[in-house]
Amino acid sequence: MLLVIKMGGSILKEGASADLVSDLKEILNQHKIVLVHGGGVEVTEIASKLGKEQKFIMSPDGFRSRYTDKETIEIYTMVMAGKINKQIVLALQRQGIPTVGLSGLDAMTLKAERKTRLIAVDERGRKKVIDGGYTGKITQVNTELLTMLITNGYVPIVTPIAISQDYEPLNVDGDRTAAIIAGALKADKLILLTDVEGLMLKGQCVPKIAATEVKEVLNKIGGGMSTKVHAGLEALNQGVKEVLVTSGTAKKPISSVLNHQTGTVITSE
Ligand SMILES: Nc1ncnc2c1ncn2[C@@H]1O[C@H](COP(=O)(O)OP(=O)(O)OP(=O)(O)O)[C@@H](O)[C@H]1O
Ligand SMILES: [Mg+2]
Repeated sequence: MLLVIKMGGSILKEGASADLVSDLKEILNQHKIVLVHGGGVEVTEIASKLGKEQKFIMSPDGFRSRYTDKETIEIYTMVMAGKINKQIVLALQRQGIPTVGLSGLDAMTLKAERKTRLIAVDERGRKKVIDGGYTGKITQVNTELLTMLITNGYVPIVTPIAISQDYEPLNVDGDRTAAIIAGALKADKLILLTDVEGLMLKGQCVPKIAATEVKEVLNKIGGGMSTKVHAGLEALNQGVKEVLVTSGTAKKPISSVLNHQTGTVITSE
């Protein structure tokens, strides 16, 4: 099987835990893996140390996103494609897993359209049109480099930065990136590793839910998780068979979610 796994920034303190990496290593005996990582919180912390306080905007449909101006995309690229990506590369290589870290800029793996305008809603619900900055919507995945790497036994680790029509870097969402890559590579499963057990509803982790059911409860799902559910639905639409959401800090997180012992499974029907 081909698995696309997104590691949330929320579980990446020092790259990736030894436990998670040894589980990855075991899975690699049977399956191929493409990793995508997050890291928004660390970008915000380092930007602040550099004297560049980050601004966040809320879209009319309730998505919170970083306002990415020129300085911010530079810091974002430094922290995400530099510090965080390389920490994960080292954590995998330390356990003997051949790994290549890359961003969507490399080999133009992720092409995106720059968002020229964004609608931001303030605390009082007033809407304002603002410049889109360096944020984008992925329009195409060039699968060539990723395929070349996985067929030769490497684990690619992708930073969610895409290339614009004008060859500029664009900030793209990590969960969405993983979903789109999973669709483009015709992956069997999309696994979203985060800092909670899975999708929580009424205080309980939902073991299994169908796409149609999850759409009905979307308004009850908060911030970070609703992005995952939307990304999951997108992957299912693209032919991915199962979307799994689970905690990346649990014991053998990938093996146990693959066996449906932990986390949440979202299926197309
Ligand atoms: N219904 C819900 N079930 C589970 N988590 C929820 C729910 N509603 C909101 N959340 C929040 O979503 C968070 C997970 O998303 P978050 O974006 O914070 O992490 P991540 O995606 O793993 O990391 P990153 O965004 O840095 O890659 C949880 O920590 C939780 O607080
Ligand atoms: Mg997130």
